Amino acid sequence: MKKKSMLVAMALLLGWMGCRADEGMWIPMLLKKYNIEDMQKQGFKLTAEDVYSINQASLKDAVVGLGREGYPFSHFCTAEIISDEGLMVTNHHCAFDMIQSHSSLEHNYLRDGFWAKDKQDELANPGITASILVRMEDVTDRINAQLTPEMSAEERNAKIKQVAARLEAEAVKGTNLQANIKPYFNGNQYFMSVFKIYKDVRLVGAPPSAVGKFGGDTDNWVWPRHTGDFSVLRIYAGKDNEPANYSPDNQPYKPSTFFKISTKGLKEGDFTMVFGYPGTTKEYLTSYAVEQIQDIENPHKIAIRTAKLNIINAAMESDELLRIKYAAKAASVANSWKKWQGEIKGLKRFNTVEKKQQEEQAFRQWAAGKPAYAHLLDQYKSLYDKRKDLILAQAYLTEAGKQGAEIVMWSAKVYNTLGSKEFINNPEQIRERIKAAAKEFYKDYDPATDCKILVEMLKLYNENLPAAWIPAEVQAAIAKKGVEAYAASLFKNSVFASEEAFNAFIDKVDGKSCRKLEKDPAYYLYHSIDLFYADNIYPELSRIENEVKVLDKTWLAAQMEMHPDKHFYADANSTLRVAYGKVQGYVPCDAVYYKHFTTLAGIMEKDNPEIYDYDVPQRLREIYEKKDFGRYTQDGEVPVCFIATNHTTGGNSGSPVLNAEGHLIGINFDRAWDGVMSDIQYNPEICRNISVDIRYVLFIIDKLAGASHLIDEMVIVD
Ligand code: ARG
Ligand code: GLU
Repeated sequence: MKKKSMLVAMALLLGWMGCRADEGMWIPMLLKKYNIEDMQKQGFKLTAEDVYSINQASLKDAVVGLGREGYPFSHFCTAEIISDEGLMVTNHHCAFDMIQSHSSLEHNYLRDGFWAKDKQDELANPGITASILVRMEDVTDRINAQLTPEMSAEERNAKIKQVAARLEAEAVKGTNLQANIKPYFNGNQYFMSVFKIYKDVRLVGAPPSAVGKFGGDTDNWVWPRHTGDFSVLRIYAGKDNEPANYSPDNQPYKPSTFFKISTKGLKEGDFTMVFGYPGTTKEYLTSYAVEQIQDIENPHKIAIRTAKLNIINAAMESDELLRIKYAAKAASVANSWKKWQGEIKGLKRFNTVEKKQQEEQAFRQWAAGKPAYAHLLDQYKSLYDKRKDLILAQAYLTEAGKQGAEIVMWSAKVYNTLGSKEFINNPEQIRERIKAAAKEFYKDYDPATDCKILVEMLKLYNENLPAAWIPAEVQAAIAKKGVEAYAASLFKNSVFASEEAFNAFIDKVDGKSCRKLEKDPAYYLYHSIDLFYADNIYPELSRIENEVKVLDKTWLAAQMEMHPDKHFYADANSTLRVAYGKVQGYVPCDAVYYKHFTTLAGIMEKDNPEIYDYDVPQRLREIYEKKDFGRYTQDGEVPVCFIATNHTTGGNSGSPVLNAEGHLIGINFDRAWDGVMSDIQYNPEICRNISVDIRYVLFIIDKLAGASHLIDEMVIVD
């Protein structure tokens, strides 16, 4: 024990003496001020201006945030431009929904892959957006100037929103750009990002899932890894090269710059940099918050999803069509489910709660006698004590309730649309829109599977929540019939359970008769959960979380004051960041060293036609037999994936991984199991991002897909 706390104390000291190497997600416009010197010391050969510039073309112009219409600033993945005709690469899992939605039993692009023969053949993906950052600006002072110390938290928030909206509008007035202001450093600073957002993104190619998702959910979040997790897209623009809605007349986008690709190869210790859109990290949480994630939020959400996945996986195993229908859903349920498990493991293994408690102890001493900070931690504690039960109820009401069986959420979506003013004013148009959404929904829907999910969700819900947290209607219904009979009768009587019944209903419904849905058992269930949440959970929980937010701002400001020499980085917030580090293996446990790269030979080692996740495509086996590797080798082997110490998170998927010259050497797609707690606590010894080696990407495009015309579009340097 004594030894352990000594180690903890040392780690703390080291942490405070400066930001540990490799940790951090840095703001591109501030590289020049804070990072470039260190980056160059680590081997980077370019200047800060080469990475981010508003005066000349720079690497940032080739980094793309992938978003969805209506939510263009919450990038779900990153992509990068690799030709002067708007060709992009991202991950296979980032384009998974696109590939899946173009797939059918006849054209099973998920299973077989897809390669457009030429540009005519490339497939449109309505609703997908591609954002390119034009510039960033620090607007902290302009926002703060409008705030006064007398304002309440609500007044402040309202003011910030109002000023931000005005600044955003002013920044892009008279242009086709879009601006977005986000808080950084827990609201201690504000930056505006100005984007040009393209709206015609087409699917150019994707390998079969047996390459793009090789190892499946079994290998997900795990190193050693052999996944060819990439896909190829292209941005199209209007004739003037400006953003335009999809049109067959659009032209491939001509970027101001694009990434050159390096096949030179890599070795341990090489400089690497990841340039992309990390979504969310929480590096400055208190021990109280981490405890709740580790002991309440994650374990319960995991249990709920385990139940869901057992049912979905059994369905997918039983039938090829169900496999297609549920592939994307299963992957997304399983992804966070597995990550939360790794996160708990890492937090416990590295004693994050204990470490944070020690930091907090030191903070208490420092803060004693400073009125602004002296009571901060006590305030946190009392808020988190109150939050405990509410957060548990929230986990079940949302994960198992509203988002449990799909029919529940779907009924609410439809009801809300029919109840809107838009429907009264414009019934035909809205009806068509609902029908289009229904077609998408039912295409991938299996009521029998969903009914089983509903049964399990309700059971879990009842078992794990105190009776006081369960909506009375749900309790009563279940008590009367038992869960199975209740679910069976819901599916029998709900108009949402079958596509035919639903379409017949929608064809006739009007502004009045839509009220009938209030008695539909699926919607009734949604409504009782929603009402219960709105009455009993939301007001108190959001009050607490707003108060926590206010403390969070002070907490981080205080830490900056306490450690004036430490270089802090802002938590990820879906804005463009630079992470840098080096290619490096690691020691996952006693006696084991993980090398920094994997090879095609490793794929053949895992090959097993009996196991879906490891069934290597026959053509790839043949290529391997013939050793037809082309120029895509290092020391005679085809490299597949590599790991490095770059600090990344969800949203960084698809990000370009660059070498010291700024050339593309890989595409980021995951993190290694032992370090997935890095969203909360980064540890340079063990946290690794996983990338697919660009040479494997080229090898698959060239040798497996035979799409060498795409290789011809790229610029490859050695
Ligand atoms: N874990 C990676 C990420 O967070 C990859 C997920 C997709 N792959 C999968 N097997 N589900 O998004
Ligand atoms: N796969 C993740 C994504 O979709 C990246 C892995 C991570 O969370 O680091 O963004």
